[in-house]
Amino acid sequence: MANDKLKPICTLNELHETRFLIRQISYKKQPISAIIFAFDDCSYAYVNHCMHMHRPLNCEQDAIFDETGKYLRCSMHGFIFDPKTGECQSPVCYGQSLQALRLEEIDGILYFSEKHLTLID
Ligand code: FES
Repeated sequence: MANDKLKPICTLNELHETRFLIRQISYKKQPISAIIFAFDDCSYAYVNHCMHMHRPLNCEQDAIFDETGKYLRCSMHGFIFDPKTGECQSPVCYGQSLQALRLEEIDGILYFSEKHLTLID
């Protein structure tokens, strides 16, 4: 459960009004970014780190979805991922997954719900 020390990520309304959010986090003592988005009326978050060549999904474009809006896509080489599981659908990394981050919603506000995660900004 989110505690008083946790910073809010955004409101649910804000998340549904945008394509995605990027937040700087410290996760397991590593500074990295997280992607947060709404898909099929649910909220999802992943470490923004493609397992192919360790680049952020939005490294080449200000986008994390493909043109269909059905898959996450890394803008470096175009590998696609299931937005609900983070599982890569492209042959080279098939079966590997983006690192999912648990979210918690309290009164319309989203928080990360991970032990080793601090929201930096
Ligand atoms: S670095 Fe993501 S597809 Fe290559």
